[in-house]
Amino acid sequence: MKKQILWMVAIFFFLNVSGQNKLNWINELPYITDIPDPFLMNNGSRVSNLSDWMKRRDELKEKFQFYEYGHFAPTSPVSVVSVSPDTIIEYGKDRMIRRVVQLKTGTEGRISFTLNLFIPGKGQGSFPVIIDGDLCFESLQKRLTAEGLLSLVKRGYIIAEFDRTKFAPDENTRVKEGNQLNQNFDFGAILNWAWGFHRTVDYLLTLNIIDKTKIGVTGWSRGGKTALLAGAFDDRIALVAPNCSGTCGSGPLRFVDTGGETIDDIATVFPYWFCSNFQNFLGINRDKLPMDQHSLIALVAPRAYLSTNGLKDTWANPRGTAQAHLAAREVFVALGVQDKMGIFYANTGHDHNIDKWIALLDFADKVFYGKTPSYDYDSIPFVGLNKAYSWSAPKKLF
Ligand code: GCU
Repeated sequence: MKKQILWMVAIFFFLNVSGQNKLNWINELPYITDIPDPFLMNNGSRVSNLSDWMKRRDELKEKFQFYEYGHFAPTSPVSVVSVSPDTIIEYGKDRMIRRVVQLKTGTEGRISFTLNLFIPGKGQGSFPVIIDGDLCFESLQKRLTAEGLLSLVKRGYIIAEFDRTKFAPDENTRVKEGNQLNQNFDFGAILNWAWGFHRTVDYLLTLNIIDKTKIGVTGWSRGGKTALLAGAFDDRIALVAPNCSGTCGSGPLRFVDTGGETIDDIATVFPYWFCSNFQNFLGINRDKLPMDQHSLIALVAPRAYLSTNGLKDTWANPRGTAQAHLAAREVFVALGVQDKMGIFYANTGHDHNIDKWIALLDFADKVFYGKTPSYDYDSIPFVGLNKAYSWSAPKKLF
């Protein structure tokens, strides 16, 4: 009996020590004041070929889950509860179909959600799709007007919207979320919302009207943070397009411009968006985070990424967003896919208006169909922007 206890203690210590080697606790982490090197591997060597980068991607994924968002719950089957009869929406010669699908997923099918599909023309064909999870804010038909929405859909895109808050409420109720998804993990709402995008993709992949190689995700503000996380972790998503996503989205944690949201602001007002570990990185501890948002963006490569922003959206840190973008771009360049990356600034504030949607579809036309856009998606509208990192990318990895 004594022997058994000794063995158990030994195993417990071994597991603990090996766990700590994998990811460091706060007191072991160095301060990094500029944007951390995405190519520096956990073992201290630098990425020098594609297979290193694939390993590094896994390391970065683990860091984002461990330090910031929490761990994704396992996948769960999605089943169709009902499909409503189609509604036809027409303006002049243009028309689209609105189809409402009720779905359920999660433990014992306890998560019910509605997916509104806006399908071009008579619905025949296989179309690219852009998923928006912000039905909780207001429907796209209201936000963009039915005519505005049709002007997008008629370009040959299905637009699919759902309410991400069906996967976790946007309120401080971690326990309730735990019951819905997975009680063993420490996670925040943004992670569960992203999981909702993944389940939506599961369903869309079962439809013949979807071009399975052209699935895009978008979202506004906290919805944009979610779209980025969802896209970074799911290779089935071909285009990741967060809009005005700011801090913990496309905006960095370091390099927050005057008036922008800091990690202290966001983690204090919205602690439940993140895993509890994130609370350790307030104040000067921010610089102990071994990663920053540019690496989340980099996880999207070699797939396509566009961030749309408002120049006057000070709280969302438009200038810092450009700095994170340029750092992430090093990875896209190293992988030879810089054409798949873009940034767009409208002369507006915090919104997800039709201009940003048009910018998204123009970019989608470029990366999906090779069309030449009228906008330069590499243009950064800040004069004298300082480079936020001192490392440089390894020679090309492709
Ligand atoms: C708050 C929050 C932001 C977030 C925004 C939103 O302003 O501080 O981080 O992006 O809400 O989701 O509208």
